Amino acid sequence: MYFPHITKNKKILFFTISSVFLIIGVGFLVVKNNVMVPANDILSERCNQADAPYVDSMLPVFERVDDLMGRLTEWEKIGQMVIIEKNSIHDPSEITKYNLGALLSGGGAGPKEDTPLAWLQMVNGFQIAAKNTCLKIPLLYGIDAIHGHANVLGATVFPHAIALGATGDSNLVRRVADATAQEMAATGIYWSFSPNLDVPRDIRWGKTYETFGSNTANVAKLGVAYLQGTQVPVNKYFNVLATAKHFIGGGAMEYGTSRNKNFKIEEGNITLSEKYLRQTHLFPFQEAVAGGAQVVMVGTATWNGVNNTGNHYLLTDILKKELGFSGFVVSDWYGAYQVSYTRYDSLVSSINAGVDMVMTPFEYKDFMVNMQKALGNGDITKERLDDAVRRILTVKFKTGLFDRPEPTQEGLSVIGSAAHRALAREAVRKSQVLLKNENSALPLSKSVSKIIVAGSGANNLGRQAGGWTTEWQGIDGNYGLTGTTILEAIKSAVSQHTSVEYNKQGYFSGKDRFADVGIAVVGEKPYAEGWGDNANPSLSPEDLVTIQKVKAKSKKLIVVIISGRPLDIKKYIHEWPGVMASWLPGSEASGITDVLFGDYYFTGQLPVAWPLY
Ligand code: BGC
Ligand code: BGC
Repeated sequence: MYFPHITKNKKILFFTISSVFLIIGVGFLVVKNNVMVPANDILSERCNQADAPYVDSMLPVFERVDDLMGRLTEWEKIGQMVIIEKNSIHDPSEITKYNLGALLSGGGAGPKEDTPLAWLQMVNGFQIAAKNTCLKIPLLYGIDAIHGHANVLGATVFPHAIALGATGDSNLVRRVADATAQEMAATGIYWSFSPNLDVPRDIRWGKTYETFGSNTANVAKLGVAYLQGTQVPVNKYFNVLATAKHFIGGGAMEYGTSRNKNFKIEEGNITLSEKYLRQTHLFPFQEAVAGGAQVVMVGTATWNGVNNTGNHYLLTDILKKELGFSGFVVSDWYGAYQVSYTRYDSLVSSINAGVDMVMTPFEYKDFMVNMQKALGNGDITKERLDDAVRRILTVKFKTGLFDRPEPTQEGLSVIGSAAHRALAREAVRKSQVLLKNENSALPLSKSVSKIIVAGSGANNLGRQAGGWTTEWQGIDGNYGLTGTTILEAIKSAVSQHTSVEYNKQGYFSGKDRFADVGIAVVGEKPYAEGWGDNANPSLSPEDLVTIQKVKAKSKKLIVVIISGRPLDIKKYIHEWPGVMASWLPGSEASGITDVLFGDYYFTGQLPVAWPLY
């Protein structure tokens, strides 16, 4: 007799039983998305860390690292090697499950409501998820605090590095970095992707303003000051960890060579001899390593056609061996996936070249699978894995992650404090460069009767601040930012008898030359890397029209340029008596009026060449 339904049921029964056995057979392994996720053994003896040497803050760092290394499973080690963009974490329990070692906020990636308290709660929440793992290794949380903790609304927005380059003042730069680190630490973030040690050779590059300028010695000097200001010791650890980036030669990428069709320079190629690369671009990194750098970010450029991220000679032979860099190398955004044709090959080449931590920055499951595979088949050795993890853990201990108390709400008062705003103002003041001063047009008197103010940058905090402020590419307008616009700074600098009239486009009803002084504040819209690559940095037609209007209505014209780099003003400058470069000053524009009205002298020097005639 034939009973098809019984056979079918038997088959189902057979399948069910064998699957159960299969699951039991693989024991503690759960297979999901091809990742072999070990079951959580948090209750096991291995996870009892009460008397473990690695939690003892009195022991030297290397002993703590040795102890912790001896406890880690391969799975946990892999987790320490990845850094994920926080928006890829949809449920904090994933941090626990995958033992993730580091997170970052990409440009503009903050909590739903952008307040310092919400940032603190968000980061503390992620740390709690990390504490739910067996060995409770804290997360390193990184952010681009490249001109103050400027992703956070309410933070002090310092001038961008190009302006600090104009000051040439390492003591000032150190204090700016320290203040930034304090604002970061208040929100529980102890890792800054700064300073930028690139030496730009082409101002058309959108990252020009992230740099201290084109003079190698100045970049090295200010870069080290910034690094040390960030890593100011608090108790036995760094307050905040700095990152020397982007190793190496980013400033020499050639126009038109980008791999990315949206960009012109970023992700491009560098054609240079090794001798020149060393002289011009390696020196700042050499100084930074000697000065205590613990993290180096490798950039996405290719050097003579070879991707830096996969270049063993650069990362291992030069950086780690020759310069003696003992910290860890982190790859840049997606950089470890751009070296080869497949993600697997790319990852393997990057890690074997010397990358210790991979900024994927999204797909951690994919990373885990590829790492398991590469370790399984010997494409990446256990020694390389251990070396990378040891480097990362050493830095985590030095940054006090295991020892520092959880930050609380009380610490938030440092964010945007009066002292930090005063420091930002000082930095702005010292960075102003006087480009032209015909017949002593500057400084201005505070007691003239009428001043007119116009221009795209006159009343716009977003433009003053530039990219990497609240949003990755910055914002055009005042929305949400706290600070003083140039217009407000002018109003508060002048005497009671001086009337200040403002019109953005320069429409003033008074007759020609009715104002004693006309101030036109013009310049660039905010931008950041890639999108800021520009064939011809110059003033917009609207800005030029505004300047003409202001000139017609005033006895004396002053042009204030807000920009991340030199703009081409050769055709017009002969018509303007007073011109100043204000760079991207950030939230405290009173630093501009401090020199505009003569309370201080102009002391800023051009950090990059600015051809004027
Ligand atoms: C930039 C880095 C930055 C990183 C994280 C990259 O695109 O090149 O400078 O630190 O993103 O936001
Ligand atoms: C992120 C930045 C990052 C960039 C790289 C953006 O979406 O917000 O942090 O540097 O992508 O392409």
